[in-house]
Amino acid sequence: MAGTGLEKSLATQAPALKVALLGFGTVGSAVARILCDRSAQLPLRLVQVFNRNVERKRVEWAGSEVEWQHDVEAVLRSDADIVVELVGGMEPAREWVERALESGKSVVTANKKLIAQYGPQLTALAARKGVALAYGASVAGGVPVIDALQEGLAGDELYKLSGILNGTCNFILTRIESAAVSFDAALREAQQAGFAEADPTDDVDGFDARAKLVILTRIGLKAIVRPEQVFCTSIRPLESVDFIYAHELGCTIRQISRAERKDGHIYASVQPALVPIDSPTAHIVGSLNLLISTGKYGGQTVFSGHGAGGHSTAVAVVSDLLDIARRSRGDHFRPVADGDTLPVTGNFSSQHYLRFTVRDRPGIVAAIAHALAAHGINIDALLQKPGFAKDALPFVVTLEHCTAEQLAAAMSEINQFDFLRGTPLTMPILTKEL
Ligand SMILES: NC(=O)c1ccc[n+]([C@@H]2O[C@H](COP(=O)([O-])OP(=O)(O)OC[C@H]3O[C@@H](n4cnc5c(N)ncnc54)[C@H](OP(=O)(O)O)[C@@H]3O)[C@@H](O)[C@H]2O)c1
Repeated sequence: MAGTGLEKSLATQAPALKVALLGFGTVGSAVARILCDRSAQLPLRLVQVFNRNVERKRVEWAGSEVEWQHDVEAVLRSDADIVVELVGGMEPAREWVERALESGKSVVTANKKLIAQYGPQLTALAARKGVALAYGASVAGGVPVIDALQEGLAGDELYKLSGILNGTCNFILTRIESAAVSFDAALREAQQAGFAEADPTDDVDGFDARAKLVILTRIGLKAIVRPEQVFCTSIRPLESVDFIYAHELGCTIRQISRAERKDGHIYASVQPALVPIDSPTAHIVGSLNLLISTGKYGGQTVFSGHGAGGHSTAVAVVSDLLDIARRSRGDHFRPVADGDTLPVTGNFSSQHYLRFTVRDRPGIVAAIAHALAAHGINIDALLQKPGFAKDALPFVVTLEHCTAEQLAAAMSEINQFDFLRGTPLTMPILTKEL
């Protein structure tokens, strides 16, 4: 198949850059496949594949030029130009990336955990060494949002980023919505379909989306935020009854990641939220991702596509490799994404949805209304579907605008009430613009 003009000219201009892969799993093997299939068109040559017990990973199609390594030291000592880290997790990936950069090799990674935690240090190290560190595949898989924020929208002053950054949560929530199943059943389905890990904590409790939001905040809003600073809540407490009430309110529920630069602060959170049923966010189903950026001059830009999967993620990795090849032939590596260190808060103001499950008795709504009013919060509406047992009665209260802190203070009182069956569920109700 013929390559593009740029690929052809890159491929013929100079010797191909030598690429070493660390990790031959879902993404690593898909990257190798593209590099091998398109070797005639790309200025890149796969020379080494490293993995533990590498013998079981060997594939015929990689050709005889590839060295299969079980010793990472040999890769780090080799004359590879670029190391692609696709092992995942924090250690030893961090150490290997650091050592590759130290030894003057460029690095490409899809590891959001690593970049969320150590991105600024590793980027500074790469700059000191005059090599590249690229991580376009770490957020939204095959959707090139890092490039778009860093380069395509560089002329704007972005102040808000929001969207759906975790396909697993989206799959689970859309299954609870469409099939009226429990969270546990939807999670099992996601695991069977290969959309969720055996340990789903990172996904369902919001840590995966939080790592991506931290990276996007650094690139798009030019602010350095640590993952643990971002307010994060799980989708585990959601039940199908929440979708029934959400629909009644003209909404659906999605895990929303959002960050906003405002009044010298970074507002940031990852949490399930109600979004209008006719918003672009509501239309994101299954494992798709969505990012909406808002800039002072250009307004909103929407990105959407497959946020995960070996092949879409591998495309993003190979695109990063090509970018390095282009820049190593005269153009400069990307500038270090500098960022301000600002206070981080999750204290967004919005309307809210509260779902209580109670042992019914007179005076419950009055007690809740009283506690909310004591914190300056007004009730907007009360919703109660018939047909539920009186000893585990779900009902919903929606609130007028209040801050997350006001609500948290009121909820710490409400949580003491003895008529509650379990902790009430609270979620923001967002507008179309998020
Ligand atoms: N999969 C996706 O859709 C996706 C999307 C975006 C980003 N990512 C990121 O891409 C990276 C790779 O993900 P993946 O899905 O390809 O993971 P994976 O399928 O688990 O592959 C990881 C590979 O690295 C090897 N490995 C792990 N630890 C090792 C160690 N200490 N020493 C030597 N080899 C080791 C594993 O070997 P074994 O076979 O022995 O375990 C496996 O072959 C992760 O950072 C992930 O977050 C993945």
